[in-house]
Amino acid sequence: MNNYSTKEVFLEDNTLITSKTDLKGKIIYGNQDFIKYGEYTEKEFLDKPHNLIRHPQMPKAAFKLLWETLYKKKEFFAFVCNLSKNNHTYWVFANITPSYDEQGNVIGYYSVRRRPSKEGVMTMQGIYNKLLEIEKTQGMEKSFAFALDFLKENKLEWDSFMVELQNKGKEGGYR
Ligand SMILES: Cc1cc2nc3c(=O)[nH]c(=O)nc-3n(C[C@H](O)[C@H](O)[C@H](O)COP(=O)(O)O)c2cc1C
Repeated sequence: MNNYSTKEVFLEDNTLITSKTDLKGKIIYGNQDFIKYGEYTEKEFLDKPHNLIRHPQMPKAAFKLLWETLYKKKEFFAFVCNLSKNNHTYWVFANITPSYDEQGNVIGYYSVRRRPSKEGVMTMQGIYNKLLEIEKTQGMEKSFAFALDFLKENKLEWDSFMVELQNKGKEGGYR
């Protein structure tokens, strides 16, 4: 499901889009699937932040939650809509984790993106649209507060909500 006039492409069951960043979030590695779906060459994406593939359909509040989680040295799960160099939209289920050295210091971040469940994309697209609407009229702090209230009202934790939505797609992912 794509609100924009771009062509949508879909991940395969065995797609694993992987990338690594330094502490500032600059990309230091992207695998073949990262190149295939992002449509950028290594030369184009190395040393750049991931907002290279940011889709305007994604609310800022989602990335605020991502970075707050990483700064707490926790892993983050999310359904993310990305945009390739040639304007192809692709939804992923992303897991983003800090990487550590032998002393336990965070030395960068690592992301693996898989084919998302249909339920997850449909649910999160609705929520992201609401957050975007709030961001346009009232700003990001309000949309972030709305997201936290939504979780509280529904007695949900972000992580388990994401993982449960993804597991609902075991019988068939998003196409
Ligand atoms: C390891 C890692 C992977 C990321 N993957 C994505 C991604 O696939 N798509 C995306 O839009 N942002 C991703 N981000 C978040 C970006 O760093 C950035 O916060 C986001 O694109 C919003 O950018 P902006 O604040 O400049 O608009 C990732 C961050 C990290 C640390």
